[in-house]
Amino acid sequence: MTDTSPPLAGVVGWPIHHSRSPMLHAYWLKKYALTGYYVPIGLKPQDFENGIRALPKLGFKGVNLTIPYKETILPLLDNVTDRAALIGAVNMVTFRDNGSIIGDNTDGYGFIQNLKQSQPDWKANAGPALVLGAGGAARAIVSALLSEGVPEIRISNRTKQRCEVFREQFGGRITITDWNSTADAMKEAATIVNTTSLGMVGKPENSISLDTAPASALVTDIVYTPLETDFLARARKRELTTVDGLGMLLHQAVPAFEHWFDIRPEVDPGLREIVLSA
Ligand code: ATR
Repeated sequence: MTDTSPPLAGVVGWPIHHSRSPMLHAYWLKKYALTGYYVPIGLKPQDFENGIRALPKLGFKGVNLTIPYKETILPLLDNVTDRAALIGAVNMVTFRDNGSIIGDNTDGYGFIQNLKQSQPDWKANAGPALVLGAGGAARAIVSALLSEGVPEIRISNRTKQRCEVFREQFGGRITITDWNSTADAMKEAATIVNTTSLGMVGKPENSISLDTAPASALVTDIVYTPLETDFLARARKRELTTVDGLGMLLHQAVPAFEHWFDIRPEVDPGLREIVLSA
């Protein structure tokens, strides 16, 4: 008998109430008049494995993973895409009909697509990139920037030894910068990215100076609460090109939606509005 039940997908995290993913998938389901559901799923750590294994039996095509499960999911997977393996974390899984679970990571893709949609003239090979931070978000962004052809990535992190892993894993195009010497490393940077949590509502301000950034630099921040961080506001006042971080969240959802609901959705102004007004 053919299964005609509507496709189900969702996002798994703990806690889950903060996730904006249900809102943006609901926008696309409505926009494209699809019958399907995308739901928030809060799974406590002790229930995580059983919960994930139950989802395909309940009819789920796949789920996104958010904090704290992007790495916890790895041992449950039968296969991961090359980009997820490189990043060492997964933000979406697909449940195959044969019972296997496939993991992917679209965070780096979302980052690059956001730059390209916001600033079509941005060129990866225009010069070195400066990346602030060396956490999970930095891994996704560094690997995506390298795939795009950035000639050199300077990584600056408060805890310097976290940068060493990047050099070991991503190789010769990575250079390590002292947090206190970030201003020097910024001098020839074509692309400047904040991947730290600095500047987010409730976190300390990002006090890294942009005074040494070249006039042609593009500055972007993955923090999107507030939408214009102090870091981006200072870049704008210097008349540097800026890209806010909300688009990364929106674009990372595109491949997941396409996978589960069979339409490649568009990141349009209405989607931004819905997420911003939440
Ligand atoms: P994520 O996976 O979201 O990137 P993470 O792995 O906790 O989260 O990384 C957070 C990043 O923000 C790190 O680069 C962290 O620097 P450390 O490696 O030194 O912890 C950076 N960060 C957080 N708070 C900071 C602060 N007060 N000053 C400077 N950097 C900070």
